[in-house]
Amino acid sequence: MPATLIDGKAFAQKVRDRVAESVAALKASHGITPGLAVIIVGHDPASQVYVRNKVRQTAEVGMNSFHFEMDSTVDQKTLIAKVRELNEDPSVNGILVQLPLPKHIDEAAVIEAIDPKKDVDGFHVINSGLLATGGGGMVPCTPLGCLMMLEDHLGDMSGLKAVIVGRSNIVGKPMAQLLLDANCTVTVAHSRTKDLPAEVAAADIIVAAVGRPEMIKGSWIKPGATVIDVGINGIPAPERGDGKTRLVGDVEFAAACNRAGAITPVPGGVGPMTIACLLKNTVTATLKQHNIDA
Ligand code: GUN
Repeated sequence: MPATLIDGKAFAQKVRDRVAESVAALKASHGITPGLAVIIVGHDPASQVYVRNKVRQTAEVGMNSFHFEMDSTVDQKTLIAKVRELNEDPSVNGILVQLPLPKHIDEAAVIEAIDPKKDVDGFHVINSGLLATGGGGMVPCTPLGCLMMLEDHLGDMSGLKAVIVGRSNIVGKPMAQLLLDANCTVTVAHSRTKDLPAEVAAADIIVAAVGRPEMIKGSWIKPGATVIDVGINGIPAPERGDGKTRLVGDVEFAAACNRAGAITPVPGGVGPMTIACLLKNTVTATLKQHNIDA
């Protein structure tokens, strides 16, 4: 039987609807409008698309959106000074600095300059430390979106074997923490893993976050497993005849559909959930900053 498609687009719409309700309620009860500030440095086309979507969706749920563009030559001091200014601005509840940053800027230093309470990306060491030691901080948006889809599809995940392919600070490592907290037995595989097909074949849950087109083969997947594909890779598409690329994930989708129990498509899976979770995190941050119970 072909795999069930996990519809991230529809799920993200539901999350955004709930966020919009929370924003309206917060305005009515406390006169507070959450504000999200996004800083983009340089002109990377993919980052510009992401940021445009973030800015548009922030406004659509009724929040204030502040958008700052800086030239790729901006120095680290100037960028950090902007972050500090936003830390002090009470109308800004969430701050996001779009990554990657130009090579001459130390990303870690910029992230550490963000007030952890406004770090809606959940990248600050205070937040990654809280996630590793029991929670209570901001949780990175992409892994949070993956977890929500897994919980929605599987319910209780206790005792299930999960393999995460990729060990980035943005996805792989926080995903491992979240699945551990959900009582999964977690393996983090990466480029030096000796027998990746065997690790994948043992898993009930596969989260693919390597950034390599269709690297995880359908034949590796255990029949009935749940597959979350975080990859968004543009590949040549001569069949289109217009010179444009098409998007594929990190999983060989067509073959995986014949083995998996459920799978997220690319596009329309994890991507929309990431922005929805960013908006959700901004509301969470606003409530915490004002000591309002959720
Ligand atoms: N670049 C790619 N994904 C992300 C993300 O989730 N947050 C930020 N700040 N930059 C990114």
